[in-house]
Amino acid sequence: MFTHRIATPADLEALRAVMALAIAELQKGFLSPEQIAASNAVMGLDTQLIADGTYFIVEEGEQIAGCGGWSHRATLYGGDHSTDLRDPAPLDPAVDAARIRAMYTHPASARRGVGRLVMALCEDAARAAGFRRAEMIATLSGEPLYRACGYAAVEQVEAPGPNGVAVPLIRMGKALD
Ligand SMILES: CC(C)(COP(=O)(O)OP(=O)(O)OC[C@H]1O[C@@H](n2cnc3c(N)ncnc32)[C@H](O)[C@@H]1OP(=O)(O)O)[C@@H](O)C(=O)NCCC(=O)NCCS
Repeated sequence: MFTHRIATPADLEALRAVMALAIAELQKGFLSPEQIAASNAVMGLDTQLIADGTYFIVEEGEQIAGCGGWSHRATLYGGDHSTDLRDPAPLDPAVDAARIRAMYTHPASARRGVGRLVMALCEDAARAAGFRRAEMIATLSGEPLYRACGYAAVEQVEAPGPNGVAVPLIRMGKALD
């Protein structure tokens, strides 16, 4: 049985381990090995989400099954290390889209509805904060989950990775009301 709670700084180490596994294992079939290696530059943990109390952990017993969050800040994607992508400016729920951020499922728990559960938690929280639309910059691995949750593609984008290897990404969005 899955339970969920808000992540705290005490979870950081365990979250980083789950993210590294998800990035390495669950993007196979969507990206080349070179693209997966490059994706590490634009994925991972943004501790701002934990500080804001907008990051969820799904557990099965004591094990983290997955995680993901939402944000009322402008940053679209990326981790603490992708400093050029960070913009902590607050969004206006009346006109801006809430961000869906940093969705990762432990490979041992993949395709069991963890991602769908986290998406529902994020959308409910963003709606409660007054947002009427949600958007994310999706990886190719994330796209099927977001489509299953009703999101449509807005535009294809690319993140320049190290060694000239670009990571394909898709901006996706959905009305929350
Ligand atoms: C994206 C990710 C979080 C999905 O997590 P998940 O817990 O396995 O997703 P769910 O089990 O809730 O899937 C819900 C639906 O999404 C779709 N879906 C999810 N993963 C899919 C896949 N690999 N292939 C096809 N459809 C998929 C299916 O419609 C699925 O429903 P179904 O299993 O009943 O067919 C996970 O694959 C992951 O961690 N990927 C690597 C990190 C990443 O790229 N994160 C996204 C960043 S934007």
